[in-house]
Amino acid sequence: MKPATRGIVTRRNFLRLMAAGTTGAFADALWIEPGWLTVTRCEVPCKGLPAGLDGLRVGLLADLHFEPDRDDALVEEAIARVNAEKLDLVLLGGDYVTSSSSVLVPLARILEKARAAHGVFAVMGNHDGWNAGRPLTRRIFEKSGISFLINQNSQLHLKGEKLAIAGTDFVWRGKPDPEATLKGIAKDTPVLALVHEPDYFDDMVARRDIMLQVSGHTHGGQCRVPVAGYAPAKVKYGEKYIYGHHASGNSGLFVTRGIGTSGLHVRFACPPELAILTLRAKAVA
Ligand SMILES: [Fe+2]
Repeated sequence: MKPATRGIVTRRNFLRLMAAGTTGAFADALWIEPGWLTVTRCEVPCKGLPAGLDGLRVGLLADLHFEPDRDDALVEEAIARVNAEKLDLVLLGGDYVTSSSSVLVPLARILEKARAAHGVFAVMGNHDGWNAGRPLTRRIFEKSGISFLINQNSQLHLKGEKLAIAGTDFVWRGKPDPEATLKGIAKDTPVLALVHEPDYFDDMVARRDIMLQVSGHTHGGQCRVPVAGYAPAKVKYGEKYIYGHHASGNSGLFVTRGIGTSGLHVRFACPPELAILTLRAKAVA
């Protein structure tokens, strides 16, 4: 007589469940998650932020690794979401290309639609440096109305306060120069730094307090272990700070998991991200 199995997880059912789960995870990683834009809203405590700038809203996009046809809808959606937010600043954190500079012009046609009350700023990523070069990348972005910072800063006067936007060159086989990047910024002016590789945060804060550095590069790990959130794949200059908010003394760092992919076009438990940061002058409860 066959034993009753209702309500009991048999080995066969368990294996079926595992197979279905694995197939589902692969389908998600390959076909669903890479195109599934999420918006992360984060209140970021910023030491040194003047009270007049409390509530400043910053949009951060990085690591587009754009491929025309494959990614147009995703990037168009990200820019539409940016514009719907009516942000104060939009920051573009590098790695626009993966291997070919030819994608820069079609990408810039989408990025030039981004609007922010006080400007759109961009820096180089390592892939841009390796494959497109600084002059071409800068020229295409500036033609699209985007301020491009390579070891430079732009000092803004907004809402009656001063704020410096400081952007370095890419770090990985690039020529980042913190002295040049921070040159001429008064000690009492808060710095919002844009640096592609997050681990360079430690080098920046060795020079002066950085109110907030924003970075990409890691893709948040690109594939993470669900629930545990562990990211097994590490990238050079993105091993210490992989995702989210970090603080050190009077300085802070936010790392986005970015929009695109590199290596395999997969994401798992780590979907594309538009980060909307609300800067807070006081500690967030
Ligand atoms: Fe990168």
